[in-house]
Amino acid sequence: MIHLFDSICLPDKGQSAYEEVRNKLEPLLQSLKARDPYYEGHIQRACFYGVEFGHLQRLNEKEIRQLYLGAFLHDIGKVLIPAEIINKPGPLDPQERKIMMTHAALGEKICYELGPLDEIAHLVGSHHERPNGTGYPRGLREREISPLSRILAIIEIYDALRSERSYKKPFSLEQSLDILRQSAAAGDLDSNVTEEFAKFAVQTKFNPHLAFGNHLTRQKI
Ligand SMILES: [Fe+2]
Repeated sequence: MIHLFDSICLPDKGQSAYEEVRNKLEPLLQSLKARDPYYEGHIQRACFYGVEFGHLQRLNEKEIRQLYLGAFLHDIGKVLIPAEIINKPGPLDPQERKIMMTHAALGEKICYELGPLDEIAHLVGSHHERPNGTGYPRGLREREISPLSRILAIIEIYDALRSERSYKKPFSLEQSLDILRQSAAAGDLDSNVTEEFAKFAVQTKFNPHLAFGNHLTRQKI
């Protein structure tokens, strides 16, 4: 999985800083991959969506790089969540769910501690924020949530909908877009970005599930 990091350059950080971050990231990613068979495919597809949709949205080079890195590391905080919660068969109880929800803030902290990745720490920390204020960890609303976070939230949910899990078949493209639009109507997602993403999803010819795999797993949050 670390190869996904190798295609990114961290401008003005220097080779030694890059390698230091890479060396710290690799065991974290290995640990996540070992615990959760869905993780690698999900991350690869999220990175793909980030770059492709980012270009379509005419994001600049820096924003696309940040969106890619955010997609790559958005769930890195799960490395600090107990394995019995990550791998629990069936739904989480309220206390376990509370613990699982800390992964966003934990991921933000990890990125700050990784130095050169501090520029995406906030993006990682806010990928579960929702425009209607029901998200976490800060309960941010509307434009308090950065544009990149609003995009990343849609990417993550879309991929989960399109993925096969132990408890569900993958939703079709049409079903997935319907669900995204319902979520946007409820204020859980940015409506404008959702519509733009829906156009992108319909138009894209490349199926990342075929390229990057679609492992069975459970969805906790
Ligand atoms: Fe997450």
